[in-house]
Amino acid sequence: MKIISNALELKQELREQNGTIGYVPTMGALHEGHIALIKEARKENKVVVVSIFVNPTQFLAGEDLNRYPRRDEADKKICELAGVDFLFMPHAEELYFDDEVKIAAPNVRGYVLEGATRPGHFSGVLRVVMKLLNIVNPTNAYFGKKDAQQLNLIELMVKQFFMDVNIVPIDTVRDSDGLALSSRNAYLSKEQRQDALKIPKSLYRASQMVSRGILDVESIKENIVDVLEPLEIAYVEILNREFEVIESVEIGKSVILVEALVGNTRLLDNVWL
Ligand code: PAJ
Repeated sequence: MKIISNALELKQELREQNGTIGYVPTMGALHEGHIALIKEARKENKVVVVSIFVNPTQFLAGEDLNRYPRRDEADKKICELAGVDFLFMPHAEELYFDDEVKIAAPNVRGYVLEGATRPGHFSGVLRVVMKLLNIVNPTNAYFGKKDAQQLNLIELMVKQFFMDVNIVPIDTVRDSDGLALSSRNAYLSKEQRQDALKIPKSLYRASQMVSRGILDVESIKENIVDVLEPLEIAYVEILNREFEVIESVEIGKSVILVEALVGNTRLLDNVWL
C-alpha cells in the first residue's frame, strides 16, 4: 500500500495503473461501516484508493472539527489489511486555495433535513467530493446509505456536472445492538448509548408497521416520535427516492430519515423501504 499526501503525485501514480479504479472517500476513524465500502471496492475493481481527510469546509463554526476522532496509525493498518492499494491523506492547504471557484449545494435539497440543521454543510461536502473525484478519477466511488442525503446530493452533482463516475450505494452496517456505526458514536457515554438505541428501534418499529400494511406517513411518523421520546428530535421525515415529500409509503421507493440529538451528539439513521 502506498500512502500519498500530494494530490498531483497521486494523480500521476493512478495514471500509470491499468484497469478499473474503486474509490472510498472517508474522514478516517475507520470502522466496519467504512470497511464494508472498502471490501466492495476491492471486490469490484483492479485498483482501490481510500482517502482520509477531515474536511474543514463541511464543519460549521462551533461544530466538532477540532475534536473529530483522528486515528491515523490504526486507520493505515486497517487499510493495509483490507487490501487498499493507495491511501490518500492530503493536508487542507493542498486541497483548498485562496479566492476559490466554489460549487455549492442546491438551494432546496441542500438545505432541508440535515442541511437545515447544519446550513452550508453540504456545500462543504460537495466541494471536497468534487475535488477528490477529480483527483482520483475513479471508475466507481462508494458511499454509505447511512448518509442518505449526502449520497443523494452526490448523485445529483455527478449527474448535473456530467461527471464520469459510477456512484455505488452501500447498505448501513450496524453494531450488534442495532446502532448504526458512526465515528461520532465514540462521543457517547454508556448511558447515552442506551438512549441512542431508541433511534434504530424507532425505525425497526416503522418498518414493522409498513410490513403490516400501514402506509400512511403521518401515522408512521407519530409512532417514530413516540419511540424516540425523550430524545431531542432534529427531524423525522419519510420521502421518496428523489427526496420529495410523500403522503403514503410506496414499498421499494421510500426512505425514512431520522436525526436526533443524544447529549450534544447528532445521530443520523434511516431505513430504505
Ligand atoms: P465519513 O463519515 O468518514 O464516511 C465515509 C463513508 O462511509 C460515507 O460514504 C458514509 O456514508 C460511509 N459510512 C459511514 N458509516 C457507515 C455505516 N455504518 N455503514 C455503511 N457506510 C457507512 O461521509 C463522510 O465521511 C464525508 O462527508 C466525506 C464523503 C468523506 C466527504 O468529506
